[in-house]
Amino acid sequence: MKVLVIGAGNMGLTYAEGMSKSKLLKKKNIMVLDKSEEKLEALHQIAHFDAFNELKDCVPDADIIFIAVKPYHAESVFKAMKPYVQPQQIVVSIMAGVTINSIKELTGLTKIVRAMPNLPAQIGEGLTSYVISPEISRIEMLTVESLLDTTGKSIRVSSENFIDASTGISGSGPAYVFYFMQSMMEAALQMGFSKNDSTVLVSQTFTGAVALFNQSNLSPNSWMEKVASKGGTTRAALDSMQDNNVNELIKEAAFAAFNRAVELGKAY
Ligand SMILES: NC(=O)c1ccc[n+]([C@@H]2O[C@H](COP(=O)([O-])OP(=O)(O)OC[C@H]3O[C@@H](n4cnc5c(N)ncnc54)[C@H](OP(=O)(O)O)[C@@H]3O)[C@@H](O)[C@H]2O)c1
Repeated sequence: MKVLVIGAGNMGLTYAEGMSKSKLLKKKNIMVLDKSEEKLEALHQIAHFDAFNELKDCVPDADIIFIAVKPYHAESVFKAMKPYVQPQQIVVSIMAGVTINSIKELTGLTKIVRAMPNLPAQIGEGLTSYVISPEISRIEMLTVESLLDTTGKSIRVSSENFIDASTGISGSGPAYVFYFMQSMMEAALQMGFSKNDSTVLVSQTFTGAVALFNQSNLSPNSWMEKVASKGGTTRAALDSMQDNNVNELIKEAAFAAFNRAVELGKAY
């Protein structure tokens, strides 16, 4: 099996590196294409995969083609690759908002996977949600899933609406966590801690809490109840968040991202 990744930016290289490190594919079976000469030069220095800058030299050889360019480049890339594609090829698009139908129309291909990764994919801790077109067989789906899983975990969703929804949860989600971390760091600074100590206090608190959560079957609510005793310090903080409607505001923010994903998708 040969995989081609078009677009050697943050995400394209993340997947190419993930596949290469996983040992699922040999070096000669991972191809990466970018239009920039500078990137190509850098890619030639990386020994993990073959680098290309001409679609005609790599598209015909690929079984699976990952598209990792920005959504506004999608149309030109699809039109340019169309003369070299073959009907059995699978397209895996990680582009935000670009629909399966538009990929079908522009490439003439039918086996399409639309995926939404998130930033921690860069360190193998990502979450990719994906949806498949009906023309993809179960074996093909499992093959693609194993490739997506080289950057973390994946979940298959039943419709493209859930891809937009997962943009609001896992896609944009890391930024919500950073927002919460930033607020806690500012509070620590205001309490008089140094910048370094504030950073350690907050980052280790997040690491520890997430590790605890992952090791148990308890819900976040149950953990809150465990931590907060009546009249205690944690209860004071949780009551303050409740009084200020923080829970509703976070949900509103997630829906704002979901709605924006739907809106952006209308452009493609
Ligand atoms: N970053 C994320 O966390 C994230 C999360 C979810 C989804 N995504 C999706 O992932 C996709 C890639 O994002 P990114 O952050 O990796 O972008 P990026 O770093 O800008 O990478 C895109 C790469 O594609 C190259 N490119 C542009 N047109 C091309 C063409 N015609 N042929 C070959 N290569 C071409 C770009 O070159 P130039 O720089 O020279 O234009 C660049 O190297 C986007 O569609 C985005 O929606 C990203």
